[in-house]
Amino acid sequence: MRPAIDQLIRPGAVHRSVYTDQDIFDLEMQHIFDTTWVFLAHEAEIPQPGDYKTTLLGRHPVIVSRQPDGQVAVLINRCRHRGPTVCENETGNSKYFRCPYHFWTYRSSGDLIGVPSPEAYGSTFKKEEMGLQRIARVDQYQGFIFGSMSAGGPSLREHLGGVARFLDAYVGAAPGGKLALFEGSQKCAYNGNWKFQLENGVDPYHVGALHISAVTPKAMEIYQQGGGCVIAMDGHGVTDHTDYGPMPLDASLSGGFNLVIFPNLIVLRSQIRTIRPVAANRTEIHTRVVKLEGAPEDINLRRMRDQEFEFGAAGTFFTDDLEIFERTQYGLQSSAVEWLTFSRGLETDKVKDGYVTGGITDETQHRGMYRNWLRMMTAGSALQEPHA
Ligand code: FES
Ligand code: FE
Repeated sequence: MRPAIDQLIRPGAVHRSVYTDQDIFDLEMQHIFDTTWVFLAHEAEIPQPGDYKTTLLGRHPVIVSRQPDGQVAVLINRCRHRGPTVCENETGNSKYFRCPYHFWTYRSSGDLIGVPSPEAYGSTFKKEEMGLQRIARVDQYQGFIFGSMSAGGPSLREHLGGVARFLDAYVGAAPGGKLALFEGSQKCAYNGNWKFQLENGVDPYHVGALHISAVTPKAMEIYQQGGGCVIAMDGHGVTDHTDYGPMPLDASLSGGFNLVIFPNLIVLRSQIRTIRPVAANRTEIHTRVVKLEGAPEDINLRRMRDQEFEFGAAGTFFTDDLEIFERTQYGLQSSAVEWLTFSRGLETDKVKDGYVTGGITDETQHRGMYRNWLRMMTAGSALQEPHA
């Protein structure tokens, strides 16, 4: 038996079942991913009318589709006949989506326009009521497209809160004022909980340890000088070396910032990393590499080389991180120790610009994310019940 949901987060500790319990994972899909804003795509992935991308919004397969008028529609990728996905491609361009099972055919807007032998359904069947379902809300900020299954709640801008200015700075580094993307995405999966990647995206404490074999002496020297801070910012996490200044054009190791935008987006150096939770002990990560529009080609190529060297399939950093995620899940099988420790800096946290900040190796930002997690997970009385 695990504690009730509202007992799982302490000021400097998180209960192991937050990572291991499949019932909690199911509740996360319902109370976090079905309510808040979830990152779906960058505008550069679907620039032209008819362009689409398929992805997951929590447990909902969705199609993010650029409409003829330039708007973005997000459709549930589930045939209204008997339920299969109507689009299996990861990306493409099409005016239509046709279900392969019985050939019901939908416009890219979701409207049902073709049903073989429709008369057999009788007079009550109305095609106009059987289009692909649209999600409740779609919005974008600085080219980052988010969707929400909930018609109510904060706006996207309210949800982003203080991290919006970091996105402004990230995009503002591009002389052309916006981001472009290198072709293709990097995909990987690990046998571990999705929140390990969230924590790790803003965790400078591990860099000088887990990545010791990859960090150059020069970088280590800069790191040990201790500049910058971590910030718990409106439920999101920030590692900040910039003191809110603009990100360096070449995203050098000594500068910039990492953002974890709860619950599934990481903006880290040259990359946009999307977290796709699959199960309590299984997670997929999709990464796109960012170009700065209008920047010299050698700057953009350096960004790609940086990505390949550190975070590619054989990258010096990413392989370490994936290994430790799996080892953590394995270790947490043991119920002999119930709590993970997040108390680093708890006694020295400060308030700066209205946000709680800590030293660069503190766990201030993690505590903020878990306060947000707890708030969302307990926003319904039924969740208070412990289960056997
Ligand atoms: Fe899609 Fe029948 S299930 S057309
Ligand atoms: Fe790392």
